[in-house]
Amino acid sequence: MNKELLKGLVEQINLELQSAYIYFGMASYLEESGFAGFSHWMKVQVKEEVSHAMRIYDFLQERGEHIEMLPFEKVDVDYDSVLDVWEKSLVHEKFITASIDKLANLAFDLKDFSAMGMLQWFVDEQVEEEDHFGGAVAQLQMAEGKGSTMLMLDREFGRREG
Ligand SMILES: [Fe+2]
Ligand SMILES: [Fe+2]
Repeated sequence: MNKELLKGLVEQINLELQSAYIYFGMASYLEESGFAGFSHWMKVQVKEEVSHAMRIYDFLQERGEHIEMLPFEKVDVDYDSVLDVWEKSLVHEKFITASIDKLANLAFDLKDFSAMGMLQWFVDEQVEEEDHFGGAVAQLQMAEGKGSTMLMLDREFGRREG
């Protein structure tokens, strides 16, 4: 595999796991704020991000590539509110989308068709991710932090499967 593409995919594994770590921090903040349902939603997301890392890992293993394990960054867990958590998570997902698009573009330029196929899954997944996170931001904005509505949303988010 092209060295630059391999480097980018190895970095993407790290980014997916870093995402899991960021969402773990968010889950912890939400739990400590007394919102078990919101926290549950984030913990489901943690598992999803680990599965994203695993998908690239499996692909690189199948291609017989060596995977370097990179360090993680410390995660800040100071949030102002539940809405602040989801606004920041949406910004993070947009950053991830840009990273995936860059990789897909590189694989395309290199005519690495199997990498393109693998990355197409992520391109589609990011559309879904931004829709999920954006939808949550919209719901939380409408709730305006009102107690009864927040408790209702907490219950609803607590029903996320996974
Ligand atoms: Fe992801
Ligand atoms: Fe994600």
